[in-house]
Amino acid sequence: MHDSPIPNIAADLADRVRPLRWTDAGLEVLDQRRLPDRTEYRLCAAADEVAEAIRTMQVRGAPAIGIAAAFGVVLAARRWFRENPERWKRLIEADLETLARSRPTAVNLFWALERMRRRIADLEYVPEPALLAEARAIHAEDIAANRKMGELGADLIGQANGILTHCNTGSLATGGYGTALGVIRSIWQRALAGSGDARPHIFATETRPWLQGARLTLWELVQDRIPATLICDSAAAFLMQQGRIQWVIAGADRIAANGDTANKIGTYNLAVAARQLEVGFMVAAPTSTIDWELPAGDRIPIEERDAGELLPEYYRGKERLAGAWNPVFDVTPKELISAIVTERGIVHPDQESLDKLRA
Ligand code: MRU
Repeated sequence: MHDSPIPNIAADLADRVRPLRWTDAGLEVLDQRRLPDRTEYRLCAAADEVAEAIRTMQVRGAPAIGIAAAFGVVLAARRWFRENPERWKRLIEADLETLARSRPTAVNLFWALERMRRRIADLEYVPEPALLAEARAIHAEDIAANRKMGELGADLIGQANGILTHCNTGSLATGGYGTALGVIRSIWQRALAGSGDARPHIFATETRPWLQGARLTLWELVQDRIPATLICDSAAAFLMQQGRIQWVIAGADRIAANGDTANKIGTYNLAVAARQLEVGFMVAAPTSTIDWELPAGDRIPIEERDAGELLPEYYRGKERLAGAWNPVFDVTPKELISAIVTERGIVHPDQESLDKLRA
């Protein structure tokens, strides 16, 4: 048994934050660029506004991007059916393209658009109610998947004193609850309910250059009152070397059919260090993040964002003096991953058990 007292963590373990809210007027997007200072929702009343919110990082995180895009399709159908009820299925195509071009790496975006496209193909009458129901289902299924992954991941971890997580994978990055952060929430929920002994301290990387760890993950953990400490990205290997971490838990933006996993830049560094220091490395992601069309991770498109996001203030306007390369994801080879936790089960990840997830 654990002797230390359970901290006064929030009884409902967060899941109070929603990055996306549907209203009759359109999709309200929590502008994550303003957090943690301001909680400000912006209304997107058209599909291109949703695409813009994704491109400019107002909403980010693979599952949340997919859900936003699904609601973007509802807005597109509303517009084109109203303007031209005979040809709306043709006219909506440009909006689907705009949404698909918003960001390249997270496959949940394309998965959600494909699902909405299949729904569109079946429709004969006023499309909005059916498409809205589909977008709501995508949202609800994501939350349910996260809860399930939370339970499975907590089972697998059992006991741990320290967990390191990267980027933001919580309620903000998903429909709610979170993937990697969902596992952390479930572990603490068990401690609170008296059904689990683990009370791990959580270390969150800062996650340069957008600071998803510092601005978002820490904000979510503080609201839950889960004990947490911020580290700069480059402190991670040193922290593991001190024996203070038993598991690294990351999310994913796209998992290739063999288990190679794209996630926030720096994830690969963490996996290399974890292997060297005999620390477990878990990926928590719903099966909507698996791209069965890609045999291996070297085919995953990696987004490179503007160098200006990386260059500090003192170099602005002086790009000729300082080049910058800003890839925002990297690929962790499957050999470095101890477990991929999905809502359909855990794989380790060998090809046979991965293939079973597809069925
Ligand atoms: O650039 P972002 O903030 O969209 O990147 C997000 C991540 O890399 C997350 O770790 C990933 O989407 C998994 S989260 C559920």
